[in-house]
Amino acid sequence: MPSLRCIPITCVQRQQPSPSDLFTPCGERVCVRGQTLDMQTAALLQGRGLTHLLAVEAESNPVDLDALLHQAARSSEACRIASAHRPQWSEPIGPFEWPATSMLRTWRGVQIRNIAENLEHLQTGQGLDQKAIDAVVDGLLDRLKRHPGPFVELALDLEETEDYLPSHAFTVAVLAMALARQLRWPVEQVRAAGIGALLMDVGMVVLARSIRQHDQRLDSTRAAAMRRHPIFSELLLRDAPWVAQAVRDAAVQHHEREDASGYPLGLNRHQIGDLARVLAVADCFAAATTSRPWRAPKLAYMAMEELQQAAARRRLWQPAVHALIQAVGLFPVGSYVRLSDGKHARVVAANPHAVDRPVVLRLADATHGEGELVDLASLSPEALNVVRPLYSAAG
Ligand SMILES: [Fe+2]
Repeated sequence: MPSLRCIPITCVQRQQPSPSDLFTPCGERVCVRGQTLDMQTAALLQGRGLTHLLAVEAESNPVDLDALLHQAARSSEACRIASAHRPQWSEPIGPFEWPATSMLRTWRGVQIRNIAENLEHLQTGQGLDQKAIDAVVDGLLDRLKRHPGPFVELALDLEETEDYLPSHAFTVAVLAMALARQLRWPVEQVRAAGIGALLMDVGMVVLARSIRQHDQRLDSTRAAAMRRHPIFSELLLRDAPWVAQAVRDAAVQHHEREDASGYPLGLNRHQIGDLARVLAVADCFAAATTSRPWRAPKLAYMAMEELQQAAARRRLWQPAVHALIQAVGLFPVGSYVRLSDGKHARVVAANPHAVDRPVVLRLADATHGEGELVDLASLSPEALNVVRPLYSAAG
């Protein structure tokens, strides 16, 4: 049985001659088994921003890398969460508590820097730091328990300067955990959703810098390499025995779609694990609402509409989309809306049972201080309603 591993280039250089055929993530063979990866080639690869290579030990030649990657993806078995619909949270879903917004945001910045450091460790061949990952997820779990109302604000209104990969991982973790809680998953599975979100894209570090940090749409070759990142994540997570099998499965499946249109394997709804289905919904929402060099961010309201359409077409898991809308609200915490009385307002909490009627802080005017706190769910739509979402406090 051929073996496939994802190894840091720095480790390869020490192994002379190489016991394996070595490939770039795009599939170029850079060293044949028994030969040495010369310093010049290694430097060239590192100059392209590559930090890892795929090491293949196979008897047969030539090596079919695509088949081996496919096999690696297949080795993850879909892990359904048997107790997914058993409520295990002691407190009721969705109580409103006044947010400590500034504290949440400061804490978020620290966590994103910790995730970025962990990814840098991985790039330099030091492996993942379990303590760092646990600290982020346990911190999120604690805040989700204490501040379920404003919790999702941690995922919204991100600074544009933040490094995309760690910031996206954090955002998806917040959304996936809020969503899993809304689905009434057991606490341990909510925690697994957070860990899965933080780890599902670690395979990105294997890709060349030009692919990882692209500032425009990728050409077909680079897009094909990018579509292998779930497999690279799974390969890297094999070297972290503390990562649960269910999380590894979710990492390799988080771009699969219910209608079998996803990648890397094109699995269908019966083959994808629930954790991966939850991560997919959180990932789609986070990606749509974040600005990228080639497109502006979508309003959360628009992103929710797209998710609903995807669920209606059986592309995304309907219960997860529904739970995300309940957890985040149609008008998410931190966003701005125009009310039927003409005033602008900032959303401060979602109402899970009335997703279009959040708790808002009415602004005195479009640019100045904040005024009255209003729970729209306590009023009739005729008395006060959201007319439309806004891009900013000013409109
Ligand atoms: Fe991904």
